[in-house]
Amino acid sequence: MAGPLDPEDWPAFRAEAHKMLDAALDRLQNAADGPVWQPLPEDLKQRFTAPLPRKGGAAFETLAAMLPYGVGNTHPRFFGWVHGAGTPTGLVADIAAGAMNANLGGRDHGAVYVEKQITAWVRGMFDFPETASGLIVSGTSLATIVAVKTARDRRSGFASRKTGAGQGLVGYTSEQAHGCIARAFDILGLGTDALRLIPVDDSFRMDPAALQSAIDADRAAGLTPFFVAGTAGTVNTGAIDPLDTIATIAARETLWFHVDGAFGVSAILSDTLRHRLNGITRADSIAFDFHKWLHVNYDAGFVLIRDGESHRAAFTLRPDYLKQGRALAAGNPWPVEYGPELSRGNRAFKIWAQFTAHGTEALASAMERNVAQAQTLAALVEAEPSLTLVPPVSLNIVCFSHRRANAEDIVAALQQQGIAAPSTTVLDGRTVIRVNLTNHRTTEADLELLVREVVRLGV
Ligand SMILES: Cc1ncc(COP(=O)(O)O)c(C=O)c1O
Repeated sequence: MAGPLDPEDWPAFRAEAHKMLDAALDRLQNAADGPVWQPLPEDLKQRFTAPLPRKGGAAFETLAAMLPYGVGNTHPRFFGWVHGAGTPTGLVADIAAGAMNANLGGRDHGAVYVEKQITAWVRGMFDFPETASGLIVSGTSLATIVAVKTARDRRSGFASRKTGAGQGLVGYTSEQAHGCIARAFDILGLGTDALRLIPVDDSFRMDPAALQSAIDADRAAGLTPFFVAGTAGTVNTGAIDPLDTIATIAARETLWFHVDGAFGVSAILSDTLRHRLNGITRADSIAFDFHKWLHVNYDAGFVLIRDGESHRAAFTLRPDYLKQGRALAAGNPWPVEYGPELSRGNRAFKIWAQFTAHGTEALASAMERNVAQAQTLAALVEAEPSLTLVPPVSLNIVCFSHRRANAEDIVAALQQQGIAAPSTTVLDGRTVIRVNLTNHRTTEADLELLVREVVRLGV
């Protein structure tokens, strides 16, 4: 028995669905073809100014026409911000997830077991104890909110869940930290003034001596330091803070030690890169994304928390209509007890499929290739008299400038002409071209082309 919103003509719908799948696979098989980015044409923009339809009609043709007009991150010459390139595996996993249409807020059903498996894998990756907890979330921004709230509430013995944000609580991160940490302080009512931005060294890594001084000054002023976030892979340069030293300070000062590892902590899977994350296994919490350097299709982030009991105590809420029960209402604890969302889509399938289809060795070697490519690009830049490398090249991000032309003009031209999509950032007060390599499709030829085109556009 079909519902009124199911297809009347299943064979026709099936044919349409197969056509869309083919269009999607064509798009990914030919990800290197065409411009990296192009603006949405006027006729397509017009289609999205229509009034809310009262009657149904054809939907898929318009969506298929949209396929070439993404951000560009499936293309090998997308180097902007920090976007993963995705995989066809994720596309197929999303079909299965779509068919199940499961809500992963809780209860006893298949996808919840897949999420539990992913949590166990992540725990193992970072050598966290069995008692550690985790949650799949939209991205590192939300993961950070979950971690900071757990840290704040544990500090107050969970009284802050009733009484609100703790007065006088202060936290620390570096000047190079991502804005999501300040945003978490804002959203949680701690206020961004309560987050001290610690200066960095010449390699853009947090200065531990400055961290210690800031903590001392705050204690002397009668404030309560409770939290420090180190970054493993800063968004500007890929710098990795001295995590082990920060962990030692955090332990001595009884601070919650959080690591923002949005893309960088994925390097834990690589035998040759892992050592750069020394100290990460001492963290109280880690926030990171599967959708960045692990190329799970958007969106898929994760928060891992060492003290699983505190994590649950910071979020648990089980009103009568959600009481732990039997049969379908079993499966305690439910994911909803570990984060702010009750309705949760099925991100677990695409993450599980990525690891299962590719294995950690292939994922690690794609990262290692990007790190080697960063060095290759740095050498290409240094060999060009018109370009200036802005060191250091810590991991997978290369920043440089043109001696005569403006970085923003060059980057805009590269994007507008569909050649490549780097972004810009500001380092030591100077706007630079920033090339981020979290792209498993990029080749050395793409980097050579990029440098050639930057030189050409700068003339
Ligand atoms: C270091 C760092 N932290 C946090 C974030 C935010 O992650 P998300 O966009 O998944 O919320 C990013 C995004 O690029 C990042 O690079």
